[in-house]
Amino acid sequence: MKKNSMKTFIQNIPKAELHVHIEGSLEPELMFKLAKRNNISLKYGSVDKLNMAYKFCDLQSFLNIYYEGAAVLIQEQDFYDMTWAFIEKLKSQNVLHAEIFFDPQTHTTRGVPFKTVINGIYRALQDGEKKYKISTGLIMCFLRHLDEKSAMKTLEESIPFKDKIIGVGLDSSELGNPPSKFTNVFSKALSFGYLTVAHAGEEGPAEYIWEALDMLKVSRIDHGVRCVEDKNLVEEIIKRKIPLTVCPLSNLKLGVFKKLEEHNLKELLDYGVLVTVNSDDPAYFGGYIGDNFLSIQESLALKKEDIYKLAKNSFEASFLNIKEKQSMLKKLDSFVTEGVLH
Ligand code: HPA
Ligand code: ZN
Repeated sequence: MKKNSMKTFIQNIPKAELHVHIEGSLEPELMFKLAKRNNISLKYGSVDKLNMAYKFCDLQSFLNIYYEGAAVLIQEQDFYDMTWAFIEKLKSQNVLHAEIFFDPQTHTTRGVPFKTVINGIYRALQDGEKKYKISTGLIMCFLRHLDEKSAMKTLEESIPFKDKIIGVGLDSSELGNPPSKFTNVFSKALSFGYLTVAHAGEEGPAEYIWEALDMLKVSRIDHGVRCVEDKNLVEEIIKRKIPLTVCPLSNLKLGVFKKLEEHNLKELLDYGVLVTVNSDDPAYFGGYIGDNFLSIQESLALKKEDIYKLAKNSFEASFLNIKEKQSMLKKLDSFVTEGVLH
């Protein structure tokens, strides 16, 4: 098959993005623009120097730079501009639906009010729904390197904005911060009607995935690629139909896999795990969802049938209701029945 034909197929196939941190979509150019607007001086003097600093060896080396970058976000309009730029990317890659993480504590700990963060992001999402009919949901993540008390405070702060948030998640430095540290706050979030997800098994062991499932009662695992280290866990994930939101370029850039050719996405797919392809922090890891699909397709020699299955999984693993899922799956099926699979 011609390379261009696969590229166009991947770009145009209807899909959902389920694992993206909105702060990780902040491109260097916009970061510099916002720094100037807010009179903030960045450690790196130019876009080129900043790009050169994007060489990570593990999750923590990335997070250090990521939190520094997020510090240019001060006013509601900054959050709007960042989110709007991301909506344009979704549109260009035919993403019909996106579930988007935001990290309130990254901002509230710097004195930026919760309402400034959520109102800016949410207004852009609404404009995206109006202009492009892209459906979206917001998932509020707790920073796991902070304590449960801080997460609990954040949960309370979110209540007036509950109608704008579909669920809660858990991100930041995984090793040494197991899901069990957040049992009480997740239980309270569930009692408020939030859905729950958690990053687990990215750098952390399979045991953290068990904890996320059994203690935090999550309905989805973010990353989860280390589940293969425990056969019983893989069986359980398949039995419970727990989706894994996998992010190939992130895994490569943070050293979870040395080479994309060694990635276990296809292995998981063949076992029957509900895996999806996502971008994580696209401005930092070298690409948006389409770039992730294309890189992993090339590295693992995936066929169009595999891409179709991954796109189908993305809608099935989403938090859309049944009617919305059916409508998007119908769009996907009419895309592939135009004879493009072979
Ligand atoms: N892992 C954990 N926390 C994060 C990530 C990630 O890849 N991106 C932003 N916060
Ligand atoms: Zn992530």
